[in-house]
Amino acid sequence: MKKIYCGNLGINNIKEKVVLYGWIANKRKFKNQIFVDLRDSTGLIQLVFHDISDPLLTKESCIKVEGKVQKRLEPNLELSTGEIEILVEKYEILNSAKQIPFEINKMTSANEDLRLEYRFLDLRQEKMLNNLKFRHKLLLAIRNYFDKHNFIEVETPILSKSTPEGARDYLVPTRRIGKFFALPQSPQLYKQLLMASGIEKYFQIARVFRDEDLRKDRQPEFTQLDIEMSFAGMEEIFSICENMWKEVLKPFGYNIKTPFPRMNYFDSLHNYGNDKPDTRYGYLIKDLTNDLKPFYPDGSFIKAIFFDREIFENESIIKEIFSKNNGQNLEIISPKNSQSIDKNKLNTIQTLINKQEIKNPTIILSIAKKEEDALKSLGAIRVLLNELYHLADPNQLNFLWIVNWPMFEYDEETKTYQAAHHPFTQIEESTFKYLETKEYEKVRAKSYDSVLNGFELASGSIRIFDPNIQKKVFETLNISEKEQQDKFGFFLKAFDYGLPPHNGIAFGIERILMILTNSTSIRDVIAFPKNAKGIDLLSNSPSIVTKEQLNEYGLNLKEKE
Ligand code: AMO
Repeated sequence: MKKIYCGNLGINNIKEKVVLYGWIANKRKFKNQIFVDLRDSTGLIQLVFHDISDPLLTKESCIKVEGKVQKRLEPNLELSTGEIEILVEKYEILNSAKQIPFEINKMTSANEDLRLEYRFLDLRQEKMLNNLKFRHKLLLAIRNYFDKHNFIEVETPILSKSTPEGARDYLVPTRRIGKFFALPQSPQLYKQLLMASGIEKYFQIARVFRDEDLRKDRQPEFTQLDIEMSFAGMEEIFSICENMWKEVLKPFGYNIKTPFPRMNYFDSLHNYGNDKPDTRYGYLIKDLTNDLKPFYPDGSFIKAIFFDREIFENESIIKEIFSKNNGQNLEIISPKNSQSIDKNKLNTIQTLINKQEIKNPTIILSIAKKEEDALKSLGAIRVLLNELYHLADPNQLNFLWIVNWPMFEYDEETKTYQAAHHPFTQIEESTFKYLETKEYEKVRAKSYDSVLNGFELASGSIRIFDPNIQKKVFETLNISEKEQQDKFGFFLKAFDYGLPPHNGIAFGIERILMILTNSTSIRDVIAFPKNAKGIDLLSNSPSIVTKEQLNEYGLNLKEKE
């Protein structure tokens, strides 16, 4: 008798005797027969039991059956095995299942925390299994692509030193009292050191860790496709990445057009109100500062989105998102319902609307003292409008590059400049002069982001390899000589021993998976993720450790405040 997988059975197997293993996905009783959908990793098949009554044959129990393949009287055309069924001759309950905490394959109805607590059951859902299979296939294709182009995969340490990505580190105490490892936020410095070693073409599917506020596209532990090359400029790395996506996604039915469009960071900010524009839909931000100045005499910036339908029913959520994104003054004006608005202002707005030629117009105005606040708050509304009104075509993939970034960002809290990407990013030569004049906002970085459908997919940069420039950047960032040595000394040594020009990039693997699998959360493309609070509900960690363990590490816990 031959062992076979459920999904591999077909009309050709009729009359064969087979052995199957799997889980009871569904069970129906009809007269003296029980119909069971048996599920394994390949699919479903209908089993027919005669004259049995077995209380242990419960949903999600794991069973072994032996039986004969026969034609189904009523075929189920939705199922690949829907023309046949197995007439069970013998069965064995390998492990009977208790009442399951949620229905498998009804993802939307199950509470997510419960799904995470019983993740092994959650992963029995077809969609989740398919996500994991897709993840595997995609990573395999990526590895093959880089291998073909003579890149080598090099693993870098997990127990390592703090890396400069700007989030909080996860620290690992050691028995060398007072000394800690940090889990890598990225392999950044190690991959640059590999360039100093002469590797030239490196990649790694790397697990990295960041202790930061979580969002739907962020996990504390995630995977990067990390790439670094020597003697290659931006054009070369762009084309390697573009061709990679084209090639690895082709077998999955995607026809990716290359080269990807490029957009200046400032154009993105002004037109889309963020640095990761979703270009699948319009409704770009317009600057109405000059047009509406007479009505806002305090010198504010006035930005607008002209929308082509009424949005009153969603006003409260729009207001909420607006204020969450530093919005200051929001006005939603629909000329049809605007009796209370100043006549002159309304006339001016009507003229502006007429120029746009929209039938059922609503104009959303964001007015703020700082231009960036006016833009970013409206950018967040534009994203929300897409969520509410499904403006983007879900089948479209709009890859693009964002280029020409600022090198430094001013941090209002600490009143210091921070590296917008990281401190090893090369400065655009034509803007060196602004370092001397201390006009740091005008300094541009040779960095780039890859964006897909409104998500930041990757970022990277040309790296500094000249020690004098590196010194200047550290000075600007107020990183003292001592701090440079403490934090990056092991890396800075390479500047004295033939460090080649190099550049690289890192893609967030879960981000692309999330988009391609149409998942609403990054958690759906990770086998064992943390919940939105950073907790692993499956193993209930982080968890407390014993006094003895703390003692070994020389640690004392503070009393809770
Ligand atoms: P960056 O910090 O921009 O760059 O990270 C690269 C990409 O990683 C993804 N990403 C995340 N995905 C899931 N959860 C998170 N918490 C998370 N944080 C980031 C994003 C992002 O674009 N060393 C540099 C790259 C380089 O310069 O080569 C770096 O790590 O998709």
